[in-house]
Amino acid sequence: MKILITAGPTREYIDDVRFLSNASSGRMGYSLVTAAIAAGHEVVLVTGPVEMAPPDGCEVYRIETTDELRQRCLELFPSCDGVIATAAVCDYRPRTRISGKITKTGQPIVLELVETSDVLAELGTLKEHRWIVGFALESQDPRNNAMRKLRMKNCDCIVLNDTSAIGSLTTSVEILSPNAETIAIYKGTKQHVAERLLELIESSIHDRNRRD
Ligand code: CTP
Repeated sequence: MKILITAGPTREYIDDVRFLSNASSGRMGYSLVTAAIAAGHEVVLVTGPVEMAPPDGCEVYRIETTDELRQRCLELFPSCDGVIATAAVCDYRPRTRISGKITKTGQPIVLELVETSDVLAELGTLKEHRWIVGFALESQDPRNNAMRKLRMKNCDCIVLNDTSAIGSLTTSVEILSPNAETIAIYKGTKQHVAERLLELIESSIHDRNRRD
């Protein structure tokens, strides 16, 4: 298979030196890249800024902003069999980016934030025979929120995790089907969870989509 994997955070600039972002390490996405390469798949990685080096053997595209993530994914998704979207996308951006550096005045400033584009939802509309695995990071009403995202983004399954996964070496995930059934629960290092998740994609989701 040829698999598109998104990983790491996106950044939204306030001015030329300051940005909004989040603490995503990219580890879950990079572990999936390693697992997919080891299983003999072709991997295209679109990654936000992280400290780790990308695993050897994949095609790498580096992005910073959500719009750059969107452009790359729209360009690459059509030639792939499926996408695993682990990127921790910055959901808001300042309405305007100030050029240069904002100088302090001793007064508060107000930032007006607007939503960034939902990249996975857009890929969901272009899906056709391809499969889509989304991630849902939830702190409240996890199952309902994850199922809402699965439907909105046209996913074949969604990997539900919680905020303790951010920046951690380990994780605990529940994988939900479009019928809201629990397909699997995996716990352990992100590498272990990535390997199990990839086996699940190979054995059920990819095969099922091919049969349809
Ligand atoms: N995602 C995306 N583009 C966005 C936001 C999220 O492609 N603008 C993708 C993520 O990579 C993930 C899934 O959608 O696979 C769900 O991301 P999550 O941050 O859990 O949810 P959001 O859709 O951003 O909703 P909210 O922040 O309100 O929980």
